[in-house]
Amino acid sequence: MDPQNLSIQMSKFRKKLIAGNWKMNVLPSMAEQLVNEILDGITNANCDILFIPPFTHIPTLSTLIHDKESVFIGAQNCHYESSGAFTGEISPEMLKDLNVDFVVLGHSERRQYFGENDKLINQKIKSALSQNLKVIYCCGESISEREAGKHKDLIEMQISAAFSGISELELSKIVIAYEPIWAIGTGKTASPDQAQDMHNFIRVLLSNMYSESAGEKLRILYGGSVKGSNAQELLNRTGIDGALVGGASLKVDEFCKIIGAAG
Ligand code: PGA
Repeated sequence: MDPQNLSIQMSKFRKKLIAGNWKMNVLPSMAEQLVNEILDGITNANCDILFIPPFTHIPTLSTLIHDKESVFIGAQNCHYESSGAFTGEISPEMLKDLNVDFVVLGHSERRQYFGENDKLINQKIKSALSQNLKVIYCCGESISEREAGKHKDLIEMQISAAFSGISELELSKIVIAYEPIWAIGTGKTASPDQAQDMHNFIRVLLSNMYSESAGEKLRILYGGSVKGSNAQELLNRTGIDGALVGGASLKVDEFCKIIGAAG
């Protein structure tokens, strides 16, 4: 079978994932209401749904969704140690104890404002996986890197450093989010062609690093100004296995539309 057909066939086995990254938004007292309104507003969902609130909201939301099928809770960050004198940090073990399913690592805001690099992110990935958390690993280029035509080189460098020492079995617990920095929170979305091109590039890269079947099983999300009006055209593309949504995940109608577009 030619690789293109195989890819189309395999994409049917990658259940789409729509993840809402709330960032530092929503008061804890309002979190339950937002999740309930979103869950009530969904008309058809054939995808996995992930809420990624601030740490402070996790206990409430984790209790709220624990018996709901295909609905998960994620954290926006974690430390790489399991405990110790790290004031202000949260460990993967603590997240697991609260029944957290996923942790986002390598988000561009963590890289930009908190100086995180792929060496540190690599330590965090290993630690999170060791606690049986799934990882959403974010990568993406800046506008100057794209304009210089260096976006693919950059992604390759990020992924090779972040995945150093990660086994194929561990890779099966990782979702990659391709998030061009120039599209995050700017209202500028990558075109479906641009996004699909990068997703294909990332899948081939991972297939070469691990195996073809590991690459085919890997879920790759797109992130960067996804909203109700552009979700369908992105999610219809083979190889775009879901979305990591920031701003629009805080708006009930928008987020429900995006979930509907994945179904
Ligand atoms: P945005 O954020 O949807 O607001 O662009 C995406 C993200 O940061 O994951």
